[in-house]
Amino acid sequence: HILYLPSLVISATKILQKKKLWKKKNSNVKKHHAIILPLPLQGHINPAVNLSLKLASSKNFTITFLTFEFLHQDLTRAHPYIDTHIDIFSQEKQGPNGVDIRYRVFSDGLPLKFDRTGKLDEYLEWYMSGGMFDQVEKEIEEVVLKSNPKVDVLIIDTFYPWASKIAKKFGLRLASFWTEPALVFNLYHHVHLLKLHGHLDCSDTRKDPIDYIPGVQSIKQHDLMSYLQDKDVSTNMHKLIFQAYQDVRKADYVLCNTVQELESDTISALQALMPFYAIGPIFPPVSPDKAVPTSLWTESSCLEWLGSMPNGSILYVSFGSLANFSKDDVTEIAYGLIESNVDFVWVLRPRTVLHEADHLLPVGFEEVVRGRGIVVPWTNQIAVLSHPAIGGFLTHCGWNSVLESVWYKIPMLCFPIFTDQFTNRKLVVDDWKVGINFGNGQPLKRMEIASQIKRFMSKENGDELRENIDVVRKILGNALEDEGSSSKNIDLFIEQLI
Ligand code: UDX
Repeated sequence: HILYLPSLVISATKILQKKKLWKKKNSNVKKHHAIILPLPLQGHINPAVNLSLKLASSKNFTITFLTFEFLHQDLTRAHPYIDTHIDIFSQEKQGPNGVDIRYRVFSDGLPLKFDRTGKLDEYLEWYMSGGMFDQVEKEIEEVVLKSNPKVDVLIIDTFYPWASKIAKKFGLRLASFWTEPALVFNLYHHVHLLKLHGHLDCSDTRKDPIDYIPGVQSIKQHDLMSYLQDKDVSTNMHKLIFQAYQDVRKADYVLCNTVQELESDTISALQALMPFYAIGPIFPPVSPDKAVPTSLWTESSCLEWLGSMPNGSILYVSFGSLANFSKDDVTEIAYGLIESNVDFVWVLRPRTVLHEADHLLPVGFEEVVRGRGIVVPWTNQIAVLSHPAIGGFLTHCGWNSVLESVWYKIPMLCFPIFTDQFTNRKLVVDDWKVGINFGNGQPLKRMEIASQIKRFMSKENGDELRENIDVVRKILGNALEDEGSSSKNIDLFIEQLI
């Protein structure tokens, strides 16, 4: 052990020197105060929390993190050890190097018991009619009037279609936070071109490639986001998206959870139009078990069981926080997993089948798979993906899941369901070749599922995907180095704020 000591002392000294240098460099830097408001959905809250931590811990920011009461209620229900009066950042705030993050809970204007998922259309109607706007405006006004240091920037999810109105009213710089890939942003941004060429709002399915979007060489209609493939583009959801994409043109900055080198053509094309900063991947700054609690459902741990399984042998199955299935689909997946003989962890989220009770699995399923498969309602996904027993991820291709899977070098079996997931699939399978397709657009059938899973988890298939994933993982890692593109972009954004 003594032999190791000198090198330990050297690295500890290096870290201290680096810290001192950083402190010196930042002692003259202006302190900024950002209000951060994510969209009230799991896949948007996670990156917003991690961005808050990043800005507050290493970039001299005070953060006021806004969250809605109904979310805070879900969160505290999911983490019974958190006192309802304590905030999720309380650990990080403690000690002399604690971060200055102020967590504020406020009402979105609807009763807590209103079923926002089950009555999504009603919720959107109210959202579009300005109900939520009034609440957000009031809350931000209070923070702006009472805060020290003075608030100077609003970092708000791109999907709030009235963001610029609020920023303007309170004299704040506006940073629109985009939690999906730049490609998706680019396609929404050029929706008028899709309309002009007849690829939007058209009754038949077009097979010709879309090759007129700046920065996008070619993409097929079936790889567009589901909202752009819909036959009816006049729903409340479409109105919201299209308005948000008008509003984002007024933002002072767009911060995107992606990496410049990963989507360089698209990002260069966007940068010619607006101040667009790729600052990802945005992950929890510490190990998964110490991360700030963000899950909206109680996490079941399967790490002990994973610990008893051979390396790379387990298929992790999860379709994220929003997607819904029919009960038949769940049944077919369940039998497909049985027939594949591949060992698995399956996250079957509450309300996966919207208006059904949670007993969705075929009778006797758990007995049949005992010892080789676990079903949980929710888990700590990062802890699972980072476990050596995991060898593949059957995923819906949510953007956070894609980034997390690449980070932990887990190849993906891609089953996009809606929204950006079709477009994300294109990046994963066609462009980076770190995943393969699952299903063929036809209703799911158990024997087909079983054979696809078996093929995906076979060694020959895995080796090739893993080689490619190493390359993409390096790109993500490099971007976060001190001189990496994302680190530089975030510094550039901060410089522009002064
Ligand atoms: C949707 C979109 O598809 C996505 O692209 C967009 O950025 C956000 O909204 P969602 O269904 O929430 O996404 O999936 P994803 O983006 O993958 O985010 C889910 C998050 O929940 C991930 O950070 C994942 O780690 C976490 N998770 C998921 C858990 O912590 N536990 C689980 O059991 C499942």
